Amino acid sequence: MSNQDLVTIAKTMVSPCKGILAADESTGTIENRFKGINVENTEENRRAYRDMLFTTKDLGKYISGVILYDETLRQKSADGTSFIELLKKQGILPGIKVDAGAKPLALHPGELVTEGLDGLPKRCAEYAKLGAKFAKWRAVITIGKGIPSAACIEENAHALSRYAAICQEAGIVPIVEPEVLMDGDHTIDRCEEITEWALKALYDALYVDRVVLEGTVLKPNMVISGKGCPQQASIDEVAERTVRILKRTVPSAVAGIVFLSGGQSDEVATAHLNAMNRIFKGNLPWPVSYSYGRALQAAPLKAWKGSAANVAAAQAALIHRSRMNSLACEARYSADEEKQAQAA
Ligand code: 13P
Repeated sequence: MSNQDLVTIAKTMVSPCKGILAADESTGTIENRFKGINVENTEENRRAYRDMLFTTKDLGKYISGVILYDETLRQKSADGTSFIELLKKQGILPGIKVDAGAKPLALHPGELVTEGLDGLPKRCAEYAKLGAKFAKWRAVITIGKGIPSAACIEENAHALSRYAAICQEAGIVPIVEPEVLMDGDHTIDRCEEITEWALKALYDALYVDRVVLEGTVLKPNMVISGKGCPQQASIDEVAERTVRILKRTVPSAVAGIVFLSGGQSDEVATAHLNAMNRIFKGNLPWPVSYSYGRALQAAPLKAWKGSAANVAAAQAALIHRSRMNSLACEARYSADEEKQAQAA
């Protein structure tokens, strides 16, 4: 595969007004989500839940790609069609989470480094054969007293760039995701400072590893007040600070930016995205879109509750959230749109 093929895939992932659905929860993470709706974490329930998401009619109108977990990538819809085929039929690119999770960083209490580089070239080659067009690797950076350390920032940037290079060699577009967590009582200033540091280190590392930026997509956190911080920044302040930092650190060659939601409520995540595209309209070097997990799935999960009888309602909730976020990609989201759908 040539660099041009990577660029074409990356551009498709950030097609105008489309976003990415992160449905790559590991078996442990989906257990937590299922606990909230009293559903047992069996392989069949996981399959049925993803089947509900991926058979949603017209999902491809708003969603350009879906990130899958290894088990999901190999599963089938109720009618026997593989999930990969099903997504392709909807015009949606299948992607795969390839990291092995964030693990304790030696000699750095309270900090994490993402593992999964061992054997990655072989796994990427298999995923490419199975039809995966892009991949995801998430680094986790925690803000706290005296942390993050330089080691946490550098080691995570290094792992992300090694991963990105391996993906590109296998013909897979890497989503690089350095997530600065919103957990904690830190101020928005501190989040801004750490996000800038993490992104600077990331793009230095990607350069050293010869990663072709045009064939990558960035999945960052927004610059936001810590969850427990008494002073919560306004929607516009989050939008302004986030874009300011991104402009300082992310080369314009990068194909696009798709945000994670990170624990924000659905509607707040949509409002932030909308504000960025409104305030900086015509003044953004990359498409700015979404790759939400919780902020897209919270409503359909709640509606589904593990019952086939609720599939239609759950799919309606997924389409609604996807549509709201796609409107936000061109600053057309409004509280009225939310209300109309709730009344319907
Ligand atoms: P959230 O949007 O729930 O943060 O999930 C996105 C994701 O893919 C995390 O790696």
